[in-house]
Amino acid sequence: MNKQLIQKYNIPGPRYTSYPTVPFWDKEGIAIGDWKSTVVKSFNESNQNEGISLYIHLPFCVSLCTFCACHKKITKRHSVEMSYIETVLKEWDLYCDLFSEKPRIREIHLGGGTPTFFSAENLRNLIEGLFKKAEKCEDFELSYEAHPNHTSREQIVTLYELGARRNSFGIQDYDPVVQKAINRIQTFEQVKQTNDWSREVGYTSISHDLIFGLPFQKEKSIRDTIEKTIQLKPDRIAYYSYAHVPWVKGVGQRGFDENDLPKDEEKRHLYELGKQLFFDNGYVEIGMDHFALPTDSMYKAMKENKLHRNFMGYTAGKTQLMIGLGMSSISDSWFAFAQNEKNLKDYVSRVENNEIPIFRGHLLSEEDLIIRQHILNLMCHLETEFNLGLSEETQQQIKNRLQEMVADDLLCFEGKKLIVKEKGRMFVRNICMTFDLRLIRNKPETRIFSMTI
Ligand SMILES: C[S@@+](CC[C@H](N)C(=O)[O-])C[C@H]1O[C@@H](n2cnc3c(N)ncnc32)[C@H](O)[C@@H]1O
Ligand code: SF4
Repeated sequence: MNKQLIQKYNIPGPRYTSYPTVPFWDKEGIAIGDWKSTVVKSFNESNQNEGISLYIHLPFCVSLCTFCACHKKITKRHSVEMSYIETVLKEWDLYCDLFSEKPRIREIHLGGGTPTFFSAENLRNLIEGLFKKAEKCEDFELSYEAHPNHTSREQIVTLYELGARRNSFGIQDYDPVVQKAINRIQTFEQVKQTNDWSREVGYTSISHDLIFGLPFQKEKSIRDTIEKTIQLKPDRIAYYSYAHVPWVKGVGQRGFDENDLPKDEEKRHLYELGKQLFFDNGYVEIGMDHFALPTDSMYKAMKENKLHRNFMGYTAGKTQLMIGLGMSSISDSWFAFAQNEKNLKDYVSRVENNEIPIFRGHLLSEEDLIIRQHILNLMCHLETEFNLGLSEETQQQIKNRLQEMVADDLLCFEGKKLIVKEKGRMFVRNICMTFDLRLIRNKPETRIFSMTI
């Protein structure tokens, strides 16, 4: 590990789950008519081929984890479930009204918040409700995020019956000191139980989310967390860098002090340690922060150059149109992005008014579309080729910005191809930043991104 390189490149930067990144979306937003026309265009181009995908945001959690950067609503009142599902289904109807034929759904992902906050019965009502107006593609996939403390066998079975073969559990860290600091107490036994149920029922891809860089994490505690994780042999492991963004998430992230966080090399060391332990146990590194067993579809997708990245992170399948339903969900029509109201009340009242409840968005320019492809290539395949249509001048400017990284041995050029070297892998966000024309032209005056390392 090269300390100087880490010091040099550890700067605030986007995670590139989209391009343009959300803070650089057009300040004017997107006109609702433009949003609808890009959805229809994308639908017409792709429904009969690959189909469409749905992301459904289920925002409720019973308690607040103080590290969490997701859009969630803390409540113990399960009476909110039914009306939320009704609103999501109504929102789906508003989209279906735009389509000239029955949508074919390739993939549904339930994200959160905690999707398993909802009862098995309500999860069934949701999925079956969506299919009243749609049909399944042959290779239909359903996946969901689950909190091990709040997931019953019944929910796991019901979601399996509805088509789920993939789930992901939030683990974060097993160390009691860390768990206390992040207000998330969960035992190995609880995780093992939900993991075992999933295996028994027949899930073929189980994923565990871990985070490095949490307060009080030390080499020993991370080693212990990873050893426990490996005992359960999840098919995938997401090993996220802790994104400390208290200015976005307010008091939610103030359950601990800045001084309690491992920083720079110390933090990077935790990543390198984890990575080595995953390698020693047969996992392969996928993109930036994922590991998978070679039997998992994500590994196969990487081998076949089919890996994709969207707002949920890396995925093995790509559809041109992804509709996000629910409070704060982001939709992607490939030609535009749009985000739903982030506040529950506003979201519900917009839908009740028969409006598609977006509050901001971005129509991609020709240049955005090209940069988006370059950034996807780099994030997913660690290489890209300068043949996508950028002007000679812009390409030269990007190459000039990359010279320092070539000198640092992070990447090389082969003809028109840019290839990220092994040493450059951890700096791939920095490499993408040299392509990010919106960031370069409008340098933010305040911190809006987490650190790249
Ligand atoms: C939306 S959560 C859903 C999981 C489920 N609610 C749970 O807690 O088990 C998805 C994942 O995002 C990751 N995450 C949330 N906040 C994060 C942060 N500030 N930095 C890095 N990863 C984060 C966590 O690993 C979490 O498991
Ligand atoms: S980590 Fe999961 S359970 Fe905790 S607050 Fe975030 S979304 Fe909710």
